[in-house]
Amino acid sequence: MKERIVELRKRFEDQLGNVADPEKLEELRLSFLSKKGQLQDLMKELSKIPNEQKKEAGQLINTFKQEVQQRFDEKKEELAAAAEKLLIESTESYDESMPAAFPCGSYHPITLVQRELEDIFESMGFDIEDYSEIVSDYDCFEAVNIPKFHPARDMQDTYYLTSKNQLLKSHTSAAQNAILRKYGPALKESGRPIRAVFPGRCFRNEAVDASHDNTFFQMEGVMVDKDISISNLIYFMKTMLSEVFGREVTVRLRPGFFPFVEPGFELDIKCLNCGGKGCPSCGNSGWLELCPCGMIHPNVLKMGGINTDEDPFEYTGFAFGLGLTRLAMMKYGVRDIRVFNDGDLGALSQFISA
Ligand code: PHE
Repeated sequence: MKERIVELRKRFEDQLGNVADPEKLEELRLSFLSKKGQLQDLMKELSKIPNEQKKEAGQLINTFKQEVQQRFDEKKEELAAAAEKLLIESTESYDESMPAAFPCGSYHPITLVQRELEDIFESMGFDIEDYSEIVSDYDCFEAVNIPKFHPARDMQDTYYLTSKNQLLKSHTSAAQNAILRKYGPALKESGRPIRAVFPGRCFRNEAVDASHDNTFFQMEGVMVDKDISISNLIYFMKTMLSEVFGREVTVRLRPGFFPFVEPGFELDIKCLNCGGKGCPSCGNSGWLELCPCGMIHPNVLKMGGINTDEDPFEYTGFAFGLGLTRLAMMKYGVRDIRVFNDGDLGALSQFISA
């Protein structure tokens, strides 16, 4: 038996020395260690040898088996290391002392403000919705109670596409109809209130200056249920703005006209710089105009499939249109709106906090 093992070991080592890839190694392993392998043949030969030698021979075979297994494992590691080395050597040379060609990216300040607001609204049970930038004339205007030739359209002149009556949305209110239609059935069937915010990029035909741009961001919000009143609107706005600014804010409502709300308001907050005494950042008025809002107009609720002519006040709701771009300007002290869109990485990569 000893001779058989010596002979087999030599054969095994010769073959192992010639193996250069993992597939061949596996073939060799099977030819020695599988159920039909050469070591198994050796075991069969055990039965032929005299009883008193069996124990020793059995131990010899077992030791040999372990040795073979170990040699396989070593060879496997050796092949893997060689493959890795080859890979490293074949890739282009790399100098770890080189400065990065592109510094690590950072979030756009408007993205930061948007995400922060989304978190706040989500914690108050709002759904976050997305909506396209190209919309129909119906969604942008008619469905929010701005019929063709209504003078309110003058304030929201935008970019029109040549096809199919489409345009770049001039306000996020363009998604109101879709939101009401999406969540209306759940409101009516199971009484789940509609609570949604939908941030988005908006476009207007503006003469660009430090505080006007043709592209800016808003975040629209709606809440619809039975018995929603202006108190609910004030509560949500106050809570949300206190979170955004990290301290208690005082709000006030002034009348404001928007065809899709009735009554409509301009919501102001007491200037956080001067506490209402008057300073340059609030134009000495003590108040900052922050967010137009109001109770959703009955026509809008009707066109959104929420109420019917029989009971136009069955459900009521509020809507608001937060200027995300304005908020970002206030929060980060950005004085020129053009900073947000002109792609100056030096300016934009300074806002890394979440
Ligand atoms: N869509 C209006 C605008 O962009 C803002 C607004 C939204 C006003 C919701 C009231 C309610 O001017």
